[in-house]
Amino acid sequence: MPHGVHRTERLRLVPIGARHAPELRELHQDGGIARWYPLSEEEALRFAERMERSWRDHGLGKWLAYEESTGALVGRGGPSWAVVEGAERAEIGWAFRRAVWGRGYATEIGRFGLDYAFSVVGVEEVVSFTEVHNARSRAVMERLGMRHVGRILRPGFIEGSDVVREAAPFALYRIVRPAHNGP
Ligand SMILES: CC(C)(COP(=O)(O)OP(=O)(O)OC[C@H]1O[C@@H](n2cnc3c(N)ncnc32)[C@H](O)[C@@H]1OP(=O)(O)O)[C@@H](O)C(=O)NCCC(=O)NCCS
Repeated sequence: MPHGVHRTERLRLVPIGARHAPELRELHQDGGIARWYPLSEEEALRFAERMERSWRDHGLGKWLAYEESTGALVGRGGPSWAVVEGAERAEIGWAFRRAVWGRGYATEIGRFGLDYAFSVVGVEEVVSFTEVHNARSRAVMERLGMRHVGRILRPGFIEGSDVVREAAPFALYRIVRPAHNGP
């Protein structure tokens, strides 16, 4: 069964599938996003295909986020299934165009995504990670009530460099399902 479109206060959320690769690629060419998360055409296709599998096999995945007031594609985010430290876990993330930072859109998709993972899918925990110096993304994690639980090494950036390294330090955050929030 295809997964549906959802609405938050200000965003329309569309589950990402393989057909969204061109939109995803275009979104990731935004300067504010590319600085942290560059995606080539090939990587955008693999990301979109991975999201389609995440939706199909686990009932959760990331959404493209369209601004209700303008209809424009402004970002993407939500929880999906990922291998983190050798284990499959629900992992939540967000990326929005530079022009809309500072409005709370990432927190809005994050809050909706956590609730969806806990109360619709019924996962026990959700993790999130970002380069240790990505202060804006860490602030979103903290606003969502996630707890900093450690440091992991993944491909990404080291502070002061714009070259992707194989093993950059990432801050790992975690939140467990609230007692009242079962499916
Ligand atoms: C990470 C990222 C999504 C954070 O965006 P952001 O705009 O800082 O985060 P939010 O959407 O939650 O907005 C929070 C800001 O909006 C303000 N705000 C306004 N209205 C708000 C509302 N209704 N709810 C929450 N915050 C609101 C907050 O006060 C905060 O402002 P501040 O930055 O001055 O403290 C953005 O920086 C980004 O896309 N970065 C590039 C991609 C990336 O790094 N992704 C993470 C990879 S792991």
